[in-house]
Amino acid sequence: MENDALRAAISTAYAKALEAASQGGGGGCCGGSGCCGAGGGTLIELAGYGPEREQHVQAAATSFGCGNPLAFSGVEPGQTVLDLGSGAGFDLLIAADRVGPTGKVVGVDMTEAMLAAARENIARAGLDSVIEVRQGHIEALPVADASVDWVISNCVINLSTDKAAVFAEIFRVLRPGGRIAISDIVAEDLPPAVLASVAGHAACVSGAISEAAYLAGLAGAGLVDVAAPERLVYSAEQLRALFGEALSETLESLGGVDFADVVAGKVASLRFVGRKPG
Ligand SMILES: C[S@@+](CC[C@H](N)C(=O)[O-])C[C@H]1O[C@@H](n2cnc3c(N)ncnc32)[C@H](O)[C@@H]1O
Repeated sequence: MENDALRAAISTAYAKALEAASQGGGGGCCGGSGCCGAGGGTLIELAGYGPEREQHVQAAATSFGCGNPLAFSGVEPGQTVLDLGSGAGFDLLIAADRVGPTGKVVGVDMTEAMLAAARENIARAGLDSVIEVRQGHIEALPVADASVDWVISNCVINLSTDKAAVFAEIFRVLRPGGRIAISDIVAEDLPPAVLASVAGHAACVSGAISEAAYLAGLAGAGLVDVAAPERLVYSAEQLRALFGEALSETLESLGGVDFADVVAGKVASLRFVGRKPG
């Protein structure tokens, strides 16, 4: 599939997933189209969020992340945080709590429905003066050079078909000394049937690169002190719960394989850190 078509398929999958999650449809994934996480379902249980879930109930219920990028991040009051693929805004709200009224939080997402949901969640939390969401692609960010202290992202870069462009954009928008805190899926040795699956790509699996390639990509863009200090390698049982029966069936029909059994142990959620020199 061409890059633009794949991006459109991903956007459609997330708009559908958001609709299902907004109507209380957690667990299982996006009516057969596949997505990362399940809107307040098992992934968020594993992601390690604390009281934030009670504080921002609607945003948490429409979260499709695979980690908690802001955990242990050291974001301080007054700083500027940029969230790549900010979705319905759960991490934007948490970032706003960290930077306070003197800070700024910007989210970028390509999916109109996600942006609309984020705007609602931001308004509900009374945080319009701190958080702004912008429509755009993470491969060409609508953000000025050297303008942010932190780039965060939660389960998004794996979806990009041009990860080198994303890593270069992260470097461009960070201020000297600025840092990253990125939760994302990595994968190794996936079978061709899984790699070829559009549903698998939208589900944050088929487009994932290895940890080594991820670290090399970040370092290649100019970031230093890059590392992945935290990880969760998914078991088959967790994968079944996380990515849903619908995806499993799609992949079975492609390759005659059970998705979760085949990729178990090869897919993990990592938290990446690093900084721009200066
Ligand atoms: C797995 S969801 C994660 C959303 C959010 N970070 C969260 O934790 O709930 C992926 C999000 O990334 C967005 N996205 C995917 N590819 C993108 C791209 N190339 N540019 C901008 N947004 C993208 C989707 O629209 C979707 O909102």
